[in-house]
Amino acid sequence: MLIAIWAQDNQALIGKNNRLPWHLPNDLQFFKNTTTNHTLVMGRKTFEGMGGRPLPKRQTIVLTRDRNYQAENVLVMHSVAEVLDYSEKQAQTTFIAGGSAIYKAFLPYCDKIYRTYINESFVGDAYFPTIDWRQWHLVDRLQGPQDEKNPYEYYYEKYNRNRVD
Ligand SMILES: NC(=O)c1ccc[n+]([C@@H]2O[C@H](COP(=O)([O-])OP(=O)(O)OC[C@H]3O[C@@H](n4cnc5c(N)ncnc54)[C@H](OP(=O)(O)O)[C@@H]3O)[C@@H](O)[C@H]2O)c1
Repeated sequence: MLIAIWAQDNQALIGKNNRLPWHLPNDLQFFKNTTTNHTLVMGRKTFEGMGGRPLPKRQTIVLTRDRNYQAENVLVMHSVAEVLDYSEKQAQTTFIAGGSAIYKAFLPYCDKIYRTYINESFVGDAYFPTIDWRQWHLVDRLQGPQDEKNPYEYYYEKYNRNRVD
C-alpha cells in the first residue's frame, strides 16, 4: 500500500528553502503518529533539509540519481521501480513523504492521499504537482484544533483513489 502524505497551503505550496514554510506542531505530531513503524520515501533534497538523519522508528528510503550517495541508517534507492518493488514485498505501508519531485513521480502509484490543507497563503518555493482530482474521492475531512502554537485553520483530509472496474 502506497500513501502520499503532505501538508500544503491554499496555493499548494509545500516548501521553502528545503524546509516547511510554516510551523504547525499538531501536523508534525499527526505525521509522526501516522507514519511510525512504517516506511518513508523521500527525495535527497527533503532528506538533507531534515538534517540528513532519518526520523526514528521508520524505515527511510532516500531517492537519488547519485550512485555514490551514502547516508547512515537509511536505504538509498535510485529509481521509482526499485522503490515499488521493495514496497510490494513489505507488510508495512509505504508513505510517499516528498518533496515535489517525489510526489510527482509516485502519485500515479498511490492508493491513498493524506493531505493536511492549511487555509493560509505562505511564501515559499516548492509546490505540490498538479493533481487530477477526477481520480480521487474524499473519504474523511477533520478540522485540526487551533491554539496559540497552531494558529491556522487547517484540515486533515483523506482521499482514496477511484476504483476502475
Ligand atoms: N509540506 C510537506 O508536506 C513537504 C513534505 C516533504 C518535502 N517538502 C518540501 O519539498 C521541498 C523539496 O522538494 P524538491 O522537489 O525540491 O526535492 P525532493 O523531491 O525532496 O528531492 C529531489 C531529489 O530526489 C531525487 N530524485 C527525484 N526523482 C528521482 C527519481 N525518479 N529517481 C531517482 N532520484 C530521484 C534527486 O536527487 P539527486 O539530485 O541527488 O539525484 C532529486 O534532486 C522542500 O522545500 C521540502 O521542505 C514539503
